[in-house]
Amino acid sequence: MSDVYVPPQISGELGQATPRAAADRNFFVRERSVPARKEIDGVSIEKLVSKFGSPLFVYSERDLRTKARRMRRAFESRYPKTSFAWSVKTNYLNAIIQVFRKEGWIAEVVSDFEYEKVRKLDIPGKDIVFNGPYKPNDALKRAMREGALIHVDNWDELSRLDEIARDIPGPIQIGLRVWLDAGIRPVWSKFGFAVANGEAERAAAAVIKNPKFHLHSLHCHIGTYILAPEAYRTAAQKLVVLRERIDTRYGQLVDCLNLGGGFPSHSLLHGMMGPAETAVPPIEDYADAIASVLNKLPARKRPLLRLESGRCLVDEAGYLLTSVVAVKGVNRASMIGADLSGRGFKERIVLNEDSRVGYVIDAGINLLYTAAWFQFDVRPARATKAPASPSRLYGPLCMAIDVVRESVDLPPLAAGDVLSLHPVGAYNFVQSMQFINYRPAIVLLTEKGTPEIIRARETLRDIDGPERLPAHLSVG
Ligand SMILES: Cc1ncc(COP(=O)(O)O)c(C=O)c1O
Repeated sequence: MSDVYVPPQISGELGQATPRAAADRNFFVRERSVPARKEIDGVSIEKLVSKFGSPLFVYSERDLRTKARRMRRAFESRYPKTSFAWSVKTNYLNAIIQVFRKEGWIAEVVSDFEYEKVRKLDIPGKDIVFNGPYKPNDALKRAMREGALIHVDNWDELSRLDEIARDIPGPIQIGLRVWLDAGIRPVWSKFGFAVANGEAERAAAAVIKNPKFHLHSLHCHIGTYILAPEAYRTAAQKLVVLRERIDTRYGQLVDCLNLGGGFPSHSLLHGMMGPAETAVPPIEDYADAIASVLNKLPARKRPLLRLESGRCLVDEAGYLLTSVVAVKGVNRASMIGADLSGRGFKERIVLNEDSRVGYVIDAGINLLYTAAWFQFDVRPARATKAPASPSRLYGPLCMAIDVVRESVDLPPLAAGDVLSLHPVGAYNFVQSMQFINYRPAIVLLTEKGTPEIIRARETLRDIDGPERLPAHLSVG
């Protein structure tokens, strides 16, 4: 027997992705090098940064439209009576709202601010779903007058609506937000009326009783980043049963069932193994789950299905480009081969921590609120064959908690290197803080690949404009 070592071969059955697939399934395997991301939709990342500055949010219009069309196809091919609403809070940049509008999406808003914003874009009341646990009276008045669909969240709101409706001609379109157990934990019982104990049915009765109201929708939103399509089957079934009960008791078959949003994007929570494409079910599975319930109803009884997705449509369209501004730790290029730095020594001996190289970048948790939950994919903008090592990404804030990734494999980097973080299109810009730093410019790459500024970098005027100095504190 030969004692020449033959390395084990991985079966070719896994296809072209074999080496990566194996690495992705084994937490302890590290790839030797990290692939670069040099461009977005064919546009050079380094050129974008040199033209528009760093950091920079970039959105791909091509990706937004592709996702919107795939979702439309997934649902309409299974259940043609589907209507799509853009969850404005997920990303309320005007340009993003407009992309969805041009794709035929209506708007779903959850505050007076969002309502005003979409009206300023000329989206008519009839194309607005007004959700949320708190809607001030003035906003409700305006929305009712303008024919928006108002989703009632609670009894107090319902009695305010009854009161306001006295001065407004009907019919006023009303939906009921309800909560139900679809097998997902935690159950989002903060919002709406409970289905299980009959509260939702009582609320429906109260709406039907008011001759000015038309009960248009039953609405639930079971959570976000839901990885189980089955949960939507359960939610749809429970809404169908509620609708039947309302029909039997009050003689009204509600027009529309709104299943909310919650479909996941191709992102990974901390601790999840990738790639996201294998961890996250495709949108078609969610469409199957919902349509299979509704298609069991006789054709004349089939409701309008409405969805109000956010995350799954916009997350992957968004990138954050950022630059390394400083290198910290023992592995910095200039120290390779040298003795441990004092810092590394301290980390190892005192904190019992491994000595990861640390990079300070110019974008932090002020811009990346969701860094607390999601592990962004971090790629350098230039290719390098140098082996990757575990690294930590610090943001620029003078705050110890400003860490974007605790540990991410990166090749040796130097100040000035550009990185891209992805996907960051959902809930990051809208929850970003003007804290310590200005917020950066935002660019949309059009379908033709032209970069268009859709939000300018903030200046001092944007921030101290609303401030007022009392006379006794005036300058000079
Ligand atoms: C009522 C409602 N609809 C839609 C959404 C959008 O959810 P997602 O981004 O998970 O699709 C949300 C977000 O939490 C919501 O609260």
